[in-house]
Amino acid sequence: MAAIEPIPGTSDIWEPEATRWVFLEDTARKTFPLYGYSELRTPIIERTDVFVRGIGGDTEVVQKEMYSFQDRGGRSLTLRPEGTAGVMRAIASLGIGPGDDKRVFYMGPMFRGERPAAGRKRQFHQAGVEAVGKISPVLDAECIAMLCHYLNEIGLSSHRLLVNSRGTREDRQEATQTLRDWFKTRIDQMCEDCRRRLDTNIWRLLDCKVEECREIIDQAPPVMDLLSGESRNFFQQTLECLQASGVNPEIAPHLVRGLDYYQHTVFEVVIDSDNLGAQNAVAGGGRYEIELPGSRKPIPGVGFALGLERLLMALGQDQPTSPSDSIKADIFVAILSKACISSALELCAQLRQRNLRVLCENEVRSMKAQMRTANKCEAKLAIIIGEDEMNENRVTVKHMRESRQETIPRREIVDTAVEALM
Ligand code: HAM
Repeated sequence: MAAIEPIPGTSDIWEPEATRWVFLEDTARKTFPLYGYSELRTPIIERTDVFVRGIGGDTEVVQKEMYSFQDRGGRSLTLRPEGTAGVMRAIASLGIGPGDDKRVFYMGPMFRGERPAAGRKRQFHQAGVEAVGKISPVLDAECIAMLCHYLNEIGLSSHRLLVNSRGTREDRQEATQTLRDWFKTRIDQMCEDCRRRLDTNIWRLLDCKVEECREIIDQAPPVMDLLSGESRNFFQQTLECLQASGVNPEIAPHLVRGLDYYQHTVFEVVIDSDNLGAQNAVAGGGRYEIELPGSRKPIPGVGFALGLERLLMALGQDQPTSPSDSIKADIFVAILSKACISSALELCAQLRQRNLRVLCENEVRSMKAQMRTANKCEAKLAIIIGEDEMNENRVTVKHMRESRQETIPRREIVDTAVEALM
């Protein structure tokens, strides 16, 4: 049969890579609750307006990247491109709103129709957090400190933490005009998207990744200088709280992030690594306000999402994996005849109860063939069950590494195996 590859921008994840994913996920489940966050699992599919309203209709994600379709009932549905909007929908459905303090973390696949590249997938995986309800620089700093704590736990050492403020919606009106006037005189040297964004969304322009545009953007007035005293004060307090938590970020004067819901603090963790290329952000987040369909007031929150594929690449574990060619087990249970199958299955169940990995023979084959399988699965013990052994309530144990075997009473085998494998 011709091999059927996964569609471009998606991957099968085999062992041993799957174990590395579990490590990233387990570390999230261990770290985030230390800061009062509990797990929330939202649907992968939502009504399209959850994302259009949540993320903003003028963002790249909504305009170009969403996997949206009509279901049989004529509803427009979308595979989630990120976690925040769905989390806010779930939280708002509980009646939680401004002034409350609800903290959740989540993880799972997200979908964006981007051009696949190293570190840029169409199905990718995030682990994220959202602290919803309160507006406080203490929360922003704690959220960033938690991100650094997580990165430390997984052993990511060389990364840069960039922070900035986008101010509030009110601040942005005046700032927008100043930025527009500044870029107007340079727009001829910028890309087509930037030219369009000059009038439609100047903040998107600051997020352009084209190298020639970046050189110009780097010369622009720092966003901070264009914000109100109140917003600058909020950012200053966030920086002080970060310092008190032992976190020293770099200020990135033009960091605005690509999603429209951000207000005040924005941050990103970037890696200087060849294999990630332009896709060097392993995590991003910030403070936001989201107005959902049906919600009376915008709901504030702060959070971030980590890209698990990029994290694994940054940790230097990006070798493509292929399925390992055999099952791995601690113990192989061999049988000498069909009559021994029930006894073998009973023993396997008892061994697994003691957390041992057990592979049970499933057809009657020569002992030589069965021992070959035991070797292939790297079993340390092979337990052989024959009719004579069954009648005499004993089993034969072969210590594979030491090439010795012994016969012991059936009732002792589970403890003997546990001890031998300790
Ligand atoms: P984001 O910056 O769009 O933010 O994505 C967060 C992270 O997801 C990125 O830093 C990157 O590591 C990873 N990522 C994004 N797109 C891809 C892709 N196509 N392939 C591989 N990895 C990707 C958000 O999603 C916000 N919801 C974060 C947030 C939470 N802000 C506040 N709360």
